[in-house]
Amino acid sequence: MKLYMAPIKGITNAIFRNVFTECFSGFDLAVAPFVSTIQGRKISRSHIRDILPENNTGIPIVPQLMSNNGDDFIHLARKLHDLGYDTVNWNLGCPFPMVANKKRGSGMLLYPERIDAFLSQVIPKIPVNLSIKCRLGRNQDEEILKLIPVFNRYPLKELIIHPRTGIQMYEGSVHLDRFEECTNQLKHSIVYNGDITCLDGFRNLSVRFPQIDTWMIGRGTLINPFLPEILKKGKDDISDKIQKMQEFHDSLWKQYQSSMSGPSHAMDKMKGFWYYFSQAFQNKAEIYKKIKKTKSMEKFENVVWNVFHHEKLIIG
Ligand SMILES: Cc1cc2nc3c(=O)[nH]c(=O)nc-3n(C[C@H](O)[C@H](O)[C@H](O)COP(=O)(O)O)c2cc1C
Repeated sequence: MKLYMAPIKGITNAIFRNVFTECFSGFDLAVAPFVSTIQGRKISRSHIRDILPENNTGIPIVPQLMSNNGDDFIHLARKLHDLGYDTVNWNLGCPFPMVANKKRGSGMLLYPERIDAFLSQVIPKIPVNLSIKCRLGRNQDEEILKLIPVFNRYPLKELIIHPRTGIQMYEGSVHLDRFEECTNQLKHSIVYNGDITCLDGFRNLSVRFPQIDTWMIGRGTLINPFLPEILKKGKDDISDKIQKMQEFHDSLWKQYQSSMSGPSHAMDKMKGFWYYFSQAFQNKAEIYKKIKKTKSMEKFENVVWNVFHHEKLIIG
């Protein structure tokens, strides 16, 4: 089986992916958080900094593009091919209204005919494989049923499905029955993504979906970075977790300090990460509140030191 690191915009950027790969094992590939396509010919290096090969020295990545414009998509996909990539991913899942209302991300799922037109324009013109990451629909989980015949008409590398609707955002239950229906009707390789947080839950999913051999994990890994290794081994025999987490954390903090303009930006990045990472500890709410409140690097480092030396881990 293969495990993919999910794209989490603002968190699983190149620095995170590189540091994570130095400290933990289990992932085979990461899908990078989306880059929007842009009109016009010139794609600056800063626009695609996160997915430049020289900035991605750890795990192999697949760049993800956010677009509803075929010409712009082709242009950026060709550029990525020139940089050495053989696959790009199209984001059809982003739930945020400011994206979806512009018929992008999960907002596009309401328009099978537009998706059809996009794929028929783009696929013959890009020198890379196309994979898609999608949800079951924008408003209703059955919307996917109208999309399946469209997806089945094209040669897609794989389809990563997060079995929620766009309006569910990241909450409420995943629709496993509908996901199962998709696995029966789609002729593409399918990657399951959603709410994988522990070995037992993962075992239940693997028993229910024996045809799935690739799984994508996002928030579960941000909380428990050992999760991919545990799932791959089928057991948790990892020792010294707290030290390993601290080494990872400190390395991430160091990298952000040296790469970002000013300590407050580096601290903002770490605070975004701690929203999830704090959930590995019993006093999660209190820890996150304290970290969020810190204004100086000294205070931040002090609070973090106390967490690693005094707080109880609750990840299994
Ligand atoms: C803050 C945040 C940012 C995200 N950014 C992206 C993104 O850039 N591209 C994408 O396809 N999905 C994005 N996602 C969705 C995740 O990749 C994943 O589909 C979702 O979190 C469900 O998987 P999980 O339960 O394993 O976290 C984001 C999710 C969150 C919470």
